[in-house]
Amino acid sequence: MKETVLSGIRSTGHLHLGNYFGALRNFIKMQYEHRCLFFVADLHSLTTHPKPADFHGNVHRVLTEYLAAGLDPEHATLFVQSDIPEITELYVLLNMITYKGELERTTSFKDKVRKQEDNVNAGLLTYPVLMAADILIHRPAKVPVGKDQEQHLEITRTLARRFNRLYEADVFPEPAAFNFGAELVKIPGLDGSGKMGKSEGNGIFLSDDEKTIHKKVMHAVTDSGPTAPNGEMPDTIRNIFTLLEVVSTPDVVTHFREAYNNCTIRYGELKKQLAEDICKITLPIRTRIEEIGADRDYLRKVTQQGAAQARESAQATMKEVRKAVGIQAF
Ligand code: TYM
Repeated sequence: MKETVLSGIRSTGHLHLGNYFGALRNFIKMQYEHRCLFFVADLHSLTTHPKPADFHGNVHRVLTEYLAAGLDPEHATLFVQSDIPEITELYVLLNMITYKGELERTTSFKDKVRKQEDNVNAGLLTYPVLMAADILIHRPAKVPVGKDQEQHLEITRTLARRFNRLYEADVFPEPAAFNFGAELVKIPGLDGSGKMGKSEGNGIFLSDDEKTIHKKVMHAVTDSGPTAPNGEMPDTIRNIFTLLEVVSTPDVVTHFREAYNNCTIRYGELKKQLAEDICKITLPIRTRIEEIGADRDYLRKVTQQGAAQARESAQATMKEVRKAVGIQAF
């Protein structure tokens, strides 16, 4: 049976390996079998106040990188969040049934309060509500995301249930966070701490050239090497192995694991292999980024067609939502 699958990426920075392996790759695999919608979350990017002169360019870049990575607009609906006003309407309605306390408790909010303490705006607090609106408006069964979005999906499910209960309606199914490997993944950064992120300065971008990739990987944090056979790996080394597992073949991973376990590993060789295998994945994507990015007519066609399809789906949901809430015309 065809399921509805939806995912999105914020229009900040360049797409990195975390975005690719956490969300994009899963989505791309599904686009030929399911009803798939993918979008650029440009309104979400406003929480950090990008310059108006940069706003459109950010959308253009992320959209181009999506397409270059293999999203096929002949099969998947590809749209820009701000082209769908129904999302903001649903966001307002969902805000009315969301409690301040539950938003204040989200990890992402607490994190942002720490990182941008001089700009703790209401959009940051209600970020998960806008994300719930993005998702619920298309009533998907599955949402391919990385581990960092798990809590947001949990809030989305809570709001779907609460809406149905409060308004005694059966409008929203509960969407599941999804990854083909069963467990949601967290792709680590190259600095030995936390996840790979757009703003963390620890990422490899799909648009990086080979030289940059090699340089970044060779600079990744390691230690002085294992001191006893079969020892516990420190986080920095485990992170490099996590990256190797997603980009290299199982033989390569086994080879370096054994070398680690018997203390013969050379980090220089491990990193060289990792950089080469990353390049194999990103090189074809990078070539397409240049081609697609220059073709504004194509991008216009894709987003106009995507917006028309997404609005049709969003309007059908909003008709039921408005009825459930009691909004009606004279
Ligand atoms: P964003 O733009 O930070 O990331 C986009 C997708 O990439 C995944 N991701 C990762 N996965 C694994 N390891 C990492 N290091 C890593 N970094 C990022 C994210 O989990 C995400 O799936 N709030 C969202 C955008 C959004 C959205 C939505 C997503 C808005 N509305 C509705 C899905 C559905 C965000 O900021 O993701």
